[in-house]
Amino acid sequence: MRYLIGVDIGTSATKTILMDENGVILSQASRAYPMMQPANGWAEQRPDDWLEASFETIRSVVEDAGVDPGNVKGIGLSGQMHGLVMLDENDRPIRDSIIWCDQRSYEQLEEMTAALPYEKWLEITANPPIAAWTAAKILWVRAHESENLARCRHILLPKDYVRFGLTGDFATDVSDASGMQLMDVKNRCWSDEVLDALGIDKALLPKIYESAEVTGYLTEEAARRCGLTTQCAVVGGSADNAGAAIGSGIVLDGDAFTTIGTSAIVYTALDNYKSVPGGSLHLCCSSVPGGYFTMGGPQAAGLSVEWFREKFCHGLEEEARESGRPVFELINEKTAQIQPGSDRLIYLPFLMGERTPHMNPKYRGAFVGLNTVHGQAHMLRAIMEGITYSLADCNDILKGMGTFVKEMRVCGGGSRNPVWRRIMADLYECDVVTLTQEEGPAYGEAILAGVGTGVFDDVRTAAKKLTGTDKRVSPVEEETMIYRKYHKIYQKVYDHLVSDFDDLYEV
Ligand code: XUL
Repeated sequence: MRYLIGVDIGTSATKTILMDENGVILSQASRAYPMMQPANGWAEQRPDDWLEASFETIRSVVEDAGVDPGNVKGIGLSGQMHGLVMLDENDRPIRDSIIWCDQRSYEQLEEMTAALPYEKWLEITANPPIAAWTAAKILWVRAHESENLARCRHILLPKDYVRFGLTGDFATDVSDASGMQLMDVKNRCWSDEVLDALGIDKALLPKIYESAEVTGYLTEEAARRCGLTTQCAVVGGSADNAGAAIGSGIVLDGDAFTTIGTSAIVYTALDNYKSVPGGSLHLCCSSVPGGYFTMGGPQAAGLSVEWFREKFCHGLEEEARESGRPVFELINEKTAQIQPGSDRLIYLPFLMGERTPHMNPKYRGAFVGLNTVHGQAHMLRAIMEGITYSLADCNDILKGMGTFVKEMRVCGGGSRNPVWRRIMADLYECDVVTLTQEEGPAYGEAILAGVGTGVFDDVRTAAKKLTGTDKRVSPVEEETMIYRKYHKIYQKVYDHLVSDFDDLYEV
């Protein structure tokens, strides 16, 4: 029997699985690390936290499964996108990584549109200039920490720093590289035109591979730390959402899924390159060779729930401790008792600014309609609904592009919540189904590692064969009608607040 490992380097933790060649998960491990927020709108993490968590969790899944390390054929890496890792002449991180949800590079957008017209950005990188993507972060470092950029020898994405620690190679994959905004997305290579316009040296960038291609093998040191051998291959891997797509069987044109983790995304697979009107959804290369995907959704999804739970739910934590039940079970129970619309309460999930469908790093969160009848459970339900209004906005853009999702697969922590699945079904107005296999990105990476090492024939066949659906929720007409009304008000509320967010930002 041959074995494969998938590692998902997320924002809250690194989650790793080991599966056999039949797709059965034998062991899993996770290790959490902090996200630092030195200022409002900023977010950083330590690259070595990701690397240590990867070493530890890989070693732990190998030991727990009790398999012969020589039979572990490959590892796939999935990562939070867009984060900037800069290495010096000794290949050490120069500073903490400025990660995906950091919005400080807002001012660099002007520089980007001065360097290349807006339409050119859409044409080459398939997306409008985005503050949270890597190119803008590099420009921010050049403007504010020029000494750091001067020392920089390699620029990597989060999962590719882990790859460097595992194999010693500077490499990335097409899906993650698309989110750096330095790529010619249609042609799946770095764009000389963009790099020249921004004055970024191509030599700083890693080599781009397709997701299932082998990029290298474990070094002796890494093999020792992981409890594996130097025969174990590492494949290109993916951006987290592209990896979750493979692990959810979303590989044919028009297939769609929603993942709710720290951020939430509606993802649709495309066989061919297809531009998105006005760049209102992100468009990137997928982990299916030659394929593409669109994605859009709120940056602060699980992050909103986590924020509210941590800051305002101490009673709930206590209740969980006393009853010996997980806090999320209590949240499900309490929010299920609140009616759709949370008794006229609307939450805008823009804690970390927003990108899709509204590109505005200055947006911030809001509860609108608060009354003394509202309590913790109303606010928690309103948070779930606000996130889903934003996801439904993205789904509506897809409808406008002629893509009508008939069945939305769901994965990520939030999808385990039946209340939230019901809200999604009502707002998407289509069936929402869970997967037999819940470890989206890590599972997808193990599949990609299997394709790269010859355990599986190709990405599409393996992903379809190994993934299946489980629980199904269909929309309920009465609730859908209620949500249509709330969704419209939500859309009006954020239009009304735009200038107020601008003013707040300027204070
Ligand atoms: C996508 C995005 C997030 C991160 C973290 O553009 O920024 O999904 O990848 O999950």
